[in-house]
Amino acid sequence: MVSSELVLRRGHYSDLTAVMEIWYANETADDPQPPARPALLSEYPHLLDYGDLWMAERDEIAVGFSGAAPRGETTFLTDLFIDPRNHSEGVGNKLLQQALDPYPRESCFTVSSSDMRALALYARYGMQPLWPNFMLHAHKLVPGSFAGHGLQVSQADPYDPEYVGWDAAASGRVRPQDIAFWVEREDGVSLWMEQDGERIGYAMIRLRGGSIWQHRAARLGPIGVREPGHATAVLMAAIDWTMQHTQHLRVDLLGPHPGLATLLASGFRINYVETLMMAGKNPFFDPRCYAGSGGALF
Ligand SMILES: CC(C)(COP(=O)(O)OP(=O)(O)OC[C@H]1O[C@@H](n2cnc3c(N)ncnc32)[C@H](O)[C@@H]1OP(=O)(O)O)[C@@H](O)C(=O)NCCC(=O)NCCS
Repeated sequence: MVSSELVLRRGHYSDLTAVMEIWYANETADDPQPPARPALLSEYPHLLDYGDLWMAERDEIAVGFSGAAPRGETTFLTDLFIDPRNHSEGVGNKLLQQALDPYPRESCFTVSSSDMRALALYARYGMQPLWPNFMLHAHKLVPGSFAGHGLQVSQADPYDPEYVGWDAAASGRVRPQDIAFWVEREDGVSLWMEQDGERIGYAMIRLRGGSIWQHRAARLGPIGVREPGHATAVLMAAIDWTMQHTQHLRVDLLGPHPGLATLLASGFRINYVETLMMAGKNPFFDPRCYAGSGGALF
């Protein structure tokens, strides 16, 4: 029975234990042998520093949270999680509005889980489902199987305005704070990819970008190019570089990305499929030219 009043308020550092409990309860709900609950995911302090965290409470007990990361002209809904004991009571809808209503409607986008309630709430908010987002992983790739890309790979300065500019062009958002987060918190390494002396792409490889299920995995992304014709070679070069460091890899690709078939034919497996949903009429990035960062920042 729903009795007491729902209170929405801004989240603080002191809320992060409750945030982790609600996140973990949802993420491991169908897992017969769930991994241990981490004390904290570093993306939540980052969200507090560079975005909005909203809490929903009843009787001063947290029942859900939402998050938004405004970057330039865009607003990414980073999180929407309700305590499973309070699902389908209207809390998610209120937290969604609280997170996104302060921003222009056409700036809003997210990647939805397969939860029908999430898909319905986002569509009703005006975000159209545009593309599937394949969450891929690999841990037994054949050594050298991604070596034939023919590109020169070199380390980039992640704070170089040119690197930030390439990421802004590919992702549709200027976000040096997120690039610094990946470098400082997830051992991110920035790369340039060149072909015959011409720069054709960039990548961020996060060597400590694992999940609670895949601790040791490196996370590839963001990875971007300016021409769709370069997307597969740059992706392969990023995978080849990462394989020098670890055999456990994670990368997310949107349905139209030209490299999707190559990866699936070369040992990558699909973990989960999300749906990218966007409110504006014109997508502000090209899904053929951009592989997102995964996690809560896309
Ligand atoms: C998804 C989630 C955040 C939604 O929050 P919630 O509080 O449970 O949802 P609400 O009660 O506010 O709204 C759900 C709406 O979906 C509608 N809905 C439910 N099933 C539906 C279906 N199969 N088709 C269409 N609409 C559906 C409901 O009718 C309801 O709308 P209404 O209140 O106007 O009737 C919550 O269920 C959750 O935490 N799920 C697990 C984690 C998750 O996947 N989060 C999304 C991350 S992207």
